[in-house]
Parts: sequence; C-alpha cells; structure tokens
Amino acid sequence: IINAASTVDSLVACLQRNKVLNYTTPSSSTSFNAVLDFSLQNLRFTEAGVSKPGSIILPSTTKEVQSAWACVRDGGWALRVRSGGHSYEGLSSTASTPFVIIDLMNMHAITVNVAKKFVWVESGIRLGELYFAIASASSNLLGLSAGTCATIGIGGHVMGGGYGLLSRKYGVAADNLLEAQVITANGTLIKKVSTSDPDLFWALRGGGGGAWGIVVAWKLKLVSVPSTVTFFNLRRTGKQAITDLVFKWQSVAPVADPELFIAVYMQAVISSGGVADMGATFYGQYWGTTNQTVALFSSIYPELGLTASDCKQGNWIQAVASVAWLAEPEALLNRQQTSRSFFKAKSDYVSTALTKQALAGAYDIMMNNTKGWMIFEPYGGLMSKIRSDEIAFPHRGGNLFMIQYQATWADDTDSPDNELIAWLRGLYSYMAPLVTYTPSRSTYVNYIDLDVGDSVSAGKSYFGSNFAKLVKIKARFDPSNIFNQPQSVPVSM
Ligand code: FDA
Repeated sequence: IINAASTVDSLVACLQRNKVLNYTTPSSSTSFNAVLDFSLQNLRFTEAGVSKPGSIILPSTTKEVQSAWACVRDGGWALRVRSGGHSYEGLSSTASTPFVIIDLMNMHAITVNVAKKFVWVESGIRLGELYFAIASASSNLLGLSAGTCATIGIGGHVMGGGYGLLSRKYGVAADNLLEAQVITANGTLIKKVSTSDPDLFWALRGGGGGAWGIVVAWKLKLVSVPSTVTFFNLRRTGKQAITDLVFKWQSVAPVADPELFIAVYMQAVISSGGVADMGATFYGQYWGTTNQTVALFSSIYPELGLTASDCKQGNWIQAVASVAWLAEPEALLNRQQTSRSFFKAKSDYVSTALTKQALAGAYDIMMNNTKGWMIFEPYGGLMSKIRSDEIAFPHRGGNLFMIQYQATWADDTDSPDNELIAWLRGLYSYMAPLVTYTPSRSTYVNYIDLDVGDSVSAGKSYFGSNFAKLVKIKARFDPSNIFNQPQSVPVSM
C-alpha cells in the first residue's frame, strides 16, 4: 500500500537526484492545478471529486522522460502519459490508484523534410501547430492526414487512428506512420520500432493509447495537397428536410471522389415559438475551385442546394482552420482550446444505410435535448481499400460512415451530468439495431467510452478481429501490464 504523502517526497528526491527539475506537486506549487487543467479537454475530469496525481512531471528531453519513468516505476506509482490531454474519459489525467502524470507538452519539436515528404515530431505537439508548420515549410503544398481539432496531441491521436478531412484520400494518421520511438517498461529507448519490433509498430498504429510504452517521437508521411481547396458550410433546419437530406447524404458522401469530404453535424434547435426542431450543418472541403464545387454538388447532391455563398476558396491550411472553427490559420498555433466543456461521447459505425424512418426516430430523441449532438463522418475512398488487419486500426471496407454522439454542457452548477448521460445512452441504445457489429458493436477507440466495458469487452469493440493479435503483442511486450488504463489492451482475453 502506497503512503502517497511520503512517496511524493521520495519521488521528488529521485527526480532531483536524476536532474529532472520540471515537475509540480499538490503541496509544492501553486501552479499544480493550472498545469493539471491546462490540456484536460473534458471538464468533467477537472472536478473536485476526481482523483489527482501525486505529481505532474514535464520533461523536455527523451533522457528526462527515461529518468522520470524510472522514478515513477521504482516508487510504485501508476503512470499516466499525457500528450494533448484530449482523452474523452480523462484517461491521461486520472487513475484509480496513486498515480503520476508524465506530461509531454514541453516536447514539441518538429522537423519537416519537404523533399522527402516526412515530418519527425515529438509527442507533445498539437495538430494545429503541426499542420501550420507543414503548410509553412512546403508553401501550402504538403499536408498531413489527421483529425480536425487543433489542440489534439499527436501522441494519443495516432495510437487511436486519427480520422479527418484527408482520411478518405490518404487514410487515418496511423496509416501514415513511418516510424516511432518508444520507451519500454524497463526504460530502454527503442529508436526504430518499425524494424526492431514490427509487431509493436503494428500495435502503435491504432491499438489505443496508454498500453504500449511511452512514445516520445513519431515520423509521419506528408501528403500532397492542391494549391486550391474549397471549404463549405451550410445550415439547414426542419426535421423533415434534414431527414431527407441526410438520407440522401448516405448514398453520396461515402462513395464520392476521395477529394470530396462532406460531414454532417446535427443538433436540435428551439424555434422562437419554443418548439423543438432539428438543425444540421453540412461542412467539408473539395479539391477544386468554388465553381467546380458548386457544379459537382448540383450533379451529385442537388437536394442540398449548395451555392457559392456557402463556400470559401483558399489553400489547404485555410480549410484546416475553417473546419476547426478558427478565424485564421495563425489561430492553429494556440496550444490550448479557448472553449472547453463537460461532455460524454459515444460512437458507432454504419454499414447499411439508415432508413428515413430510423433517422426520424433518432431525431425524435434528439429533439428532447438541445445539449446533445451527432456527427456523421463519411468513410469509403482509401479507407475501404486498406485491409482491416493492415494495421491495428480496424474500421475499413463495408463501413459507410462513423457516428459520434455527444452530450455537451457548459457548466456544472445544476449538475446535469446524470440526466444528459442517460439521454445519450438512450440514443445509443435506440441506434443498436442499426449499426455495425464485427461481431461486437464497432466503436472508435479515439472516442473512448468507458461504458463499452472492461478491457476485454472494449477491446472487441474497438479492435474487432485485430484484438486477438493485439493481446498477443501486449503479452510479449508488456507481460506485467505496466502500461495500462481501464480499457487498454490486456495481456490475456
Ligand atoms: P491524451 O494525452 O489524453 O492521450 C490519450 C491516451 O493516449 C491516454 O490513454 C494517454 O495515456 C495515451 N497517450 C498519450 N500520449 C501518449 C504517449 N506519448 N505515449 C503513450 N501513451 C500516450 N479524433 C479523431 O480521430 N478525429 C478528430 O477530428 C477528433 N476531434 C476531436 C476533438 C476534440 C475536441 C477532442 C477532445 C477529441 C477529438 N478526437 C478526434 C479524439 C482524439 O483523437 C483522442 O482523444 C486522442 O486520443 C487524443 O490524443 P491526446 O494526445 O490529445 O490525448
């Protein structure tokens, strides 16, 4: 049994002996809470009743990470590695036993190689600053396929897959991983995981965060992007209209050219007369001019009624900023999200198009709650050409789209958590007969959801038929399960 108070002292003594001097503890520093909350994206995990770490260590070099890890391990602490802190369940910032966070936010070096089309990054880099650096170095001709939110850390993101606007064209971020550097349980640094341990390299590409050691650096493939991109955003309201439009969307977005990405965000609205109705925002990008985009939509999706006034023409980094709801590309450099909220999320995959009746039923549930929303993101394109066992990320051919459901609230003064979470679970159970099973209900590990169950149940949902191989790799690589979180891949099934 750990006596946390005395152990913090011995941890600190160990850190100092090893010249790891950038750390904070609850009693030693007034900045402790600020550092803890800096990148904690889900405010549910900033609340007073949530477990807090004995220390947050902020290394600047790989050597410091190794020394810090030795002190944490030898002191008997559980470890939480944090890159961007965007875990939906706060899994990089909380634990059920005494724990320490190694927060990699100060390790954010980027080396872009334009000629050879790759980038080396340290784990604490945020997607926004990475996109900005790539666009600047390549005069807007190279990009990276990864998620849309600018403050996500590359560390957790690649290990879960990493889906975004370029995924139909170039796959998820994990498909574009070329190399990684990992610190193992005994503190050794593996400098070239791809050749020294190909199985571990396979697992790092979608096998989920918190299970595979401490990844300190990533080499990712850069992809060509055109000099002209059109990004669009248009709003529609009315339950019937949205039912019809989204029904049609299912036969357009997943089969369109991979250069076209159309997602749809749906949320209930209350009219000025106080009546609930549905609202939807269709957004995305196309690799062409505005005229070409409007012409394409009028041929494949005329019902949407996209016009030039719904579009903006620019370069790739402007499209990235726009989809991240930022006014200008420079805002991608902010390392902290300006607006954060309390939320709970769930996800599904859909392989058989939803009927209008099924959609209308979901909207009836949504119209009971304006704090809930749903996004449909199209698959298809390259996503369906890559084999589902090519890397650990399994969600490939056959999936038309992914659904993300969220209940989001801005303050906790009226403690709405349970009511909203119950509503979300209700929507998710309504959708149960309509979504993909392989054979467990398919779920995206980057939208981690503790409701999915223990590490075995969750593993089957997150990784489908890749789960058994992941368990074998885990048993060989980390047999004592030193790197773990409640849903990390276990050492046996
Ligand atoms: P965080 O630091 O919380 O890490 C997540 C997990 O990985 C934890 O278990 C952590 O311990 C582990 N981990 C992190 N760094 C590690 C390292 N270096 N070595 C070992 N383990 C490590 N996803 C998507 O695919 N597309 C999208 O567009 C979005 N959009 C989005 C928006 C917002 C607002 C949020 C909050 C999240 C998303 N996501 C997303 C989900 C996101 O991809 C997911 O939460 C990632 O795991 C976040 O990675 P971070 O490094 O930020 O998280």
